Amino acid sequence: MTAAVSTNELTRKSVADAALDAAAQLWFVVAVLGQWTFVYYIASVYVVPTVMGYSGRWRSNDSLIKGYIVGDHVGNLYFTAHVFIAALITTSGALQLVPQIRARAISFHRWNGRVYISAAFLMALGGLWLVWVRGTILTAYGAASSTFLAILIMVCATMTVRQALARRIDLHHRWALRTFMVVNGVWFQRIGYMFWTILNRGPAGMGKHMDGPFDIFWGFGCYLLPLAVLEIYLRTRDRADSRGKSVMATALFAVTVAMGIGIFGAYMFMWRPFIKF
Ligand code: HEM
Repeated sequence: MTAAVSTNELTRKSVADAALDAAAQLWFVVAVLGQWTFVYYIASVYVVPTVMGYSGRWRSNDSLIKGYIVGDHVGNLYFTAHVFIAALITTSGALQLVPQIRARAISFHRWNGRVYISAAFLMALGGLWLVWVRGTILTAYGAASSTFLAILIMVCATMTVRQALARRIDLHHRWALRTFMVVNGVWFQRIGYMFWTILNRGPAGMGKHMDGPFDIFWGFGCYLLPLAVLEIYLRTRDRADSRGKSVMATALFAVTVAMGIGIFGAYMFMWRPFIKF
């Protein structure tokens, strides 16, 4: 009888573990597909036209606050560097988290990791320059949220490297996941806007200058919420019983569906109109 009960418990546990693993993997696959769609947009709007010498095309991106400004050579250079590195970091981040690559190509993982962490610092510091020196500011909330994001990116990236150097692989992995979340904060911001717009059948709570209640909430929420979900996931994976893991797996699945809707919206309404290869 006792043996039967404990076998049942073990089965429940392994089913819950497997469900949580599957939900996390599905989340990752959908996220990577969405991020590479973003890379496709960045490449087709900024990278390819600039490299091919017909950079005028991205000047027409009038959804930008500043973007390209005639005569502002330094500002345009920083902005161009920012979007080029955005394509690089978004591509390299996903590769860094694939376990098969870590297991079979450790030297690629190390080199890609160095590129990723350097790019994270360049994005954070370059972004701060765009906000505070170039003055790409719409509201004080927007400036505060992007400044806090830049600080979090640098803190998480530093911790990832420190734990790797100290060979604390479990902590290194946790900090790498946190870095991944904050580096993708701007991507979450875009898909979050689209999810919310589709859900409300229109731009609810958004102001003309990104100063509506939703703009302010999501300015910070776009990276704090993914970070919070990650922390809950890690704690559940490590400490929860089978019921907790099943609930987390279901919640993660719901988050993935919401993310998929946001990615679809971002592709259809934000990125696809600019993709003109
Ligand atoms: C590390 C991840 C980041 C990525 C992948 C990223 C990506 C991008 C992209 C693709 C654009 C062009 C806008 C578009 O076409 O949608 C952009 C613009 C910009 N980013 Fe970032 N960014 C990141 C981090 C940051 C940070 C941390 C800051 C601020 C501290 C920042 C500040 C800006 C500013 C001010 C603009 C110009 C916006 C405009 O003129 O409208 N970025 N970024």
